[in-house]
Parts: sequence; structure tokens; C-alpha cells
Amino acid sequence: GRVAVLMGGTSAEREVSLESGRNVLEALRARGVDAQPVDGIPALLEALLAKRFDRVFNILHGNKGGGEDGTLQGLLEALRVPYTGSGVLGSALGMDKIRTKQVWLSLGLPTPRYARLAPGADVVEAARALGLPVIVKPSCEGSSVGVSRVFDEAGLAAAVDLAARYPGELLMEQMIVGGEYTVGILGDVALPSIRIVPAGEYYDYHAKYVAEDTQYLCPGLDGEAEAAIRSLALSAFRAAGCTGWGRVDVMRDAAGNNYLLEVNTAPGMTSHSLVPKAAGQVGIGFEELCWRVLETSLP
Ligand code: DAL
Ligand code: MG
Repeated sequence: GRVAVLMGGTSAEREVSLESGRNVLEALRARGVDAQPVDGIPALLEALLAKRFDRVFNILHGNKGGGEDGTLQGLLEALRVPYTGSGVLGSALGMDKIRTKQVWLSLGLPTPRYARLAPGADVVEAARALGLPVIVKPSCEGSSVGVSRVFDEAGLAAAVDLAARYPGELLMEQMIVGGEYTVGILGDVALPSIRIVPAGEYYDYHAKYVAEDTQYLCPGLDGEAEAAIRSLALSAFRAAGCTGWGRVDVMRDAAGNNYLLEVNTAPGMTSHSLVPKAAGQVGIGFEELCWRVLETSLP
């Protein structure tokens, strides 16, 4: 059938999504799929009502006008149009870092200690309770948009102001010093972990999409440690109600303890992105990866 590759949208990750989408579109077409690009949810709705597509490959990133947060998924459920990736619950939960952490904590899964910053919260108090340094971020964004690392109390106000520019709640998190890892999930399988080594201070938007000097080691670990991080990521993905495909981000401290950061339900498919690298490590090329993700839309 005809596939809409849904990309773009109006979230802060629009540009990232457009690049992911172009790559997916090209790969599906190379596989003989009748695929067309669609920019944003309103255009998709119009096309679906006109019966122009039978299926949606969702590569919108981000919340609300994005499409990674459950609203798109609810619309498609109501219209009975099959789509790739997680359903309403997994998408909505995955887009909300605070509530994802609450679910993980309730199941005994490890995640950095945190505070939800309600409007007017005493941020200095919160930072003291967690212990500096801390990370301040919007609870519902992606690609490190609005994220700051804060090393002293003087830096808190600016970090909160930046994060508050984005919709939704704010989160302050204990900073785990160590290595940054990510684990792609494809179907029922955790792909090899990737250890991310940014050339600069940390893996921010620039290091993610612009810099050519970020290093990616895959698999990121060996033996039991590698098995453990994959198994943790898969449990965390399932605990958040996610299905199909995605990516779980993890910090690992010097003692080898893993801490779950978040789950991404429509992870990037740019030339710099991580799931394609991990899939490549086990012999799944980009076209095959897109094909397998498309298969997650089958009932
Ligand atoms: N939010 C970006 C697209 C990612 O997780 O890859
Ligand atoms: Mg993310």
C-alpha cells in the first residue's frame, strides 16, 4: 500500500525530523515502497481523509505539533490507520521524562535522582537537595533542546529560564559523571549499545547533528556489562509501554552502575543518528532498518 512518511511538523526538532524523513523516504523508495513525504499532522489528516495513504511511517520528532507524544497516535487509532512505532501510551509517556522516571522508579529500574520544578519552585533548594552539579531540562523535549549542565548555584537561574522557553514541565536531575550510552530497540531486540564520546563537554545539539568529531563506539561495552545494559534498556522500553522500535539513553558511572535517562519513540534517522549506527553493527543496513521499522506498523 501507499506509505506516508510523516516528518517536519512544528516542534523544536523540526529540522532534525526533516533530515530523518528524507533519509527514510529515500530508503523506502529504494526498496520499492510507494512512499510520499508529508509535512506535519494537519497535512497528513487531509491526505488520510482523501484516502491517499494506507499506512504511516512516523518520523516526526518532538511533542504536540511534533508527533512523538501520543496525540498523532490517538488520531491514527481513531482513523484506524496503521503506523510505525509505539502506540498512544508509550508515545505519551516516552515524551514526558518526569513520568517515565516515575514509572521506572516504581519498578525498581535505576534512573538519576530528580526534582520536578513546579512554577515558582525554589531551584536553589532543589539543587542543594540533589547535590550539584545538576542537569536542568524541559521534561518534554528532545535532541538536548533547552538542556543545561549547572555546576554552581549562580548558573541555576539561566538554566531554568532557558528550559522554561519550551512547553511543559521542568526537570532537574542529578548529573551522573561517567559515560553516555544509548541502546536502540528494534522489534523485540536490543541492538548493541553505543558509547558516545563528544569531543566537547557533552553531547548537546551541536555534538548530535553538526559536529563531525563526536566519537561513537559500538558495541559500547563487552561481555556481561554489554548484556546487562541491553537487557536494562529493553526492560525500560517495555516498562514505559513502548513497542516497535525506539532508543533508550543511559548514563553509566565510573563504578559501572547504569542510570536510565529517557526513551525516544521516534528516534533520529539522520546521517549522525544512533539507531542506524547500532543496526549497522549487526549487519542491518539503513534500507533494511527502514523496512523493519515499516514492518512494525503491521497489525
Ligand atoms: N530526539 C532525537 C530525534 C533522537 O532521540 O534521536
Ligand atoms: Mg530524547
